[in-house]
Amino acid sequence: MRIYLETFGCQMNELDSQLVRGQLSCLGHTFTEDPSIAEVLLYNTCSVREHAEQKAYSRIGIVGQRKRAGEHLILGVIGCMAERDGLDMLVRHPQIDLLCGPGELDKLPALIDNASRTHDLPRPDRAALAGNKSRRTATLAAADDDLESLDLARMFDPSTDDGRHRSAYVRITRGCNKFCTYCVVPRTRGAEVHRPPDHIVAECRRLADAGVIEVTLLGQTVNHYSYTHGVAVTLSGTEAPQVGAAVRPNGRNDSGSHATARKTTFAGLLRRIHEEVPSLRRIRFLTSYPRDFGLDALEAMRDCPRICPYLHAPAQSGSNRILRLMNRGYEVEEYVDFAHRAIETVPDLCLAGDFIVGFPTETEADFAATVDLVQRLPFKNNFIFKYSPRPGTVAFDRLPDDIPDEVKRARNNRLLAVQAGVSARVHAGWVGRTVDVLVDTVRSVPKANPAPNGVELRWERPVGRWQVVGRTAGDLIVTAPFDAGNPSHLIGTIVQVQLEAARPLLLLGTLLTDG
Ligand code: SAH
Ligand code: SF4
Ligand code: F3S
Repeated sequence: MRIYLETFGCQMNELDSQLVRGQLSCLGHTFTEDPSIAEVLLYNTCSVREHAEQKAYSRIGIVGQRKRAGEHLILGVIGCMAERDGLDMLVRHPQIDLLCGPGELDKLPALIDNASRTHDLPRPDRAALAGNKSRRTATLAAADDDLESLDLARMFDPSTDDGRHRSAYVRITRGCNKFCTYCVVPRTRGAEVHRPPDHIVAECRRLADAGVIEVTLLGQTVNHYSYTHGVAVTLSGTEAPQVGAAVRPNGRNDSGSHATARKTTFAGLLRRIHEEVPSLRRIRFLTSYPRDFGLDALEAMRDCPRICPYLHAPAQSGSNRILRLMNRGYEVEEYVDFAHRAIETVPDLCLAGDFIVGFPTETEADFAATVDLVQRLPFKNNFIFKYSPRPGTVAFDRLPDDIPDEVKRARNNRLLAVQAGVSARVHAGWVGRTVDVLVDTVRSVPKANPAPNGVELRWERPVGRWQVVGRTAGDLIVTAPFDAGNPSHLIGTIVQVQLEAARPLLLLGTLLTDG
């Protein structure tokens, strides 16, 4: 069947969509970018804020109109909304043929098959399956988890758009155990389960063999990664320690003992990937949880040149009172100490994060504390969100959403303006340096911008000129003009750029090499 798949939400969802695409392609399905010629429409959805859900509902509404007009289509809602809304969504939107939460994606081919066979049956007999409603337990070994097969069977096609970028996501941890009071993710993704390090290293190696030069390790609290190695039962019935380069929590190598649980820590995993997959030029990770960041992981970042000096570690608020209401588990000073420790340990570290404004009861003083935190630290960027009450979360049940939307919007804009100043300052500190840039986009600018002048003219008015855009190891966005025709051959290569000017959102420079 011909499938249209659209993805909303975070990198976790982007990776899930790639895995789903690979799995369905293997079974003979084809994919199209054009929803009007697809027989199956799949929306991989996000529940993190109401706005994200509205986007998906508008697509679901359009497909409903087409179905009512007589088109034979299968509509599937997959991802976090399928998990959060479950069967209620099916009742409210009868045009949906199947629901599949992120914890059940390995079953998606069967659900599509089922939906196509039962499509013309009267509704009560039609089969649809909601996502996984129960939290998976952390003791469930990831190796036994059906979902693991989805990651293990991934395909990477260098001829696709994703493939040309030579950059790939690799999941190391599923789920989240933090239960921040505003957040729906622990309910949609279930409990934290860490993948076995051997699987992760093997996946990185396969991706590198297929041409990938940058991997981004994914987890909701990625630095919380910790894999306890089990014991294998041998044929003679005795127990033997499982093989694998494990380290004890103290980071030392462990020769293996029956009595001691052996662990691979996050730092140990980073070092293993760095050593065992030398053709990877960049190893990144997302998203870090400020409280659990050990010095051992910072030292791994310092010692291993191909581990990127980039930390996305959301602070969420600069007010201790709000942080407590959010159940974040740290105070502002602890966050600041962590940021300073990271900056001191890892040369050229780039720091980024997220903030929520307008959390219930947030006063002007609380907000001023957030502004103060943004000004105190060299954040290269921050994603800023207006608080969105999510059914099923503790904040939704216990704290009225009492900050008016105009106030949320005004605080959002004020914080964005403050961040723009901080970003411009951080970027200005890089001017004059030469950096490696992994090119991900090329573009030609068709129209003149309103005329600025001076040194900026080269970049501000590149009429008809090509530019390359990419990212440094620290994830700074860099653009440089290219005069010798269309530079698309540079996509997926690392080029050197001499940085010459700074803007709030990016750095501008001159290309020194062409990869
Ligand atoms: N696991 C990551 C973040 C996952 S969600 C972490 O803890 O850092 C991505 C971001 O969405 C969060 O960092 C938070 O800033 C924002 N977010 C989550 N729930 C939200 C809500 N209910 N309203 C507004 N923003 C929210
Ligand atoms: Fe959500 Fe908090 Fe988990 Fe991040 S750490 S996914 S914000 S519950
Ligand atoms: Fe959204 Fe689910 Fe990611 S709620 S942010 S798609 S984990």
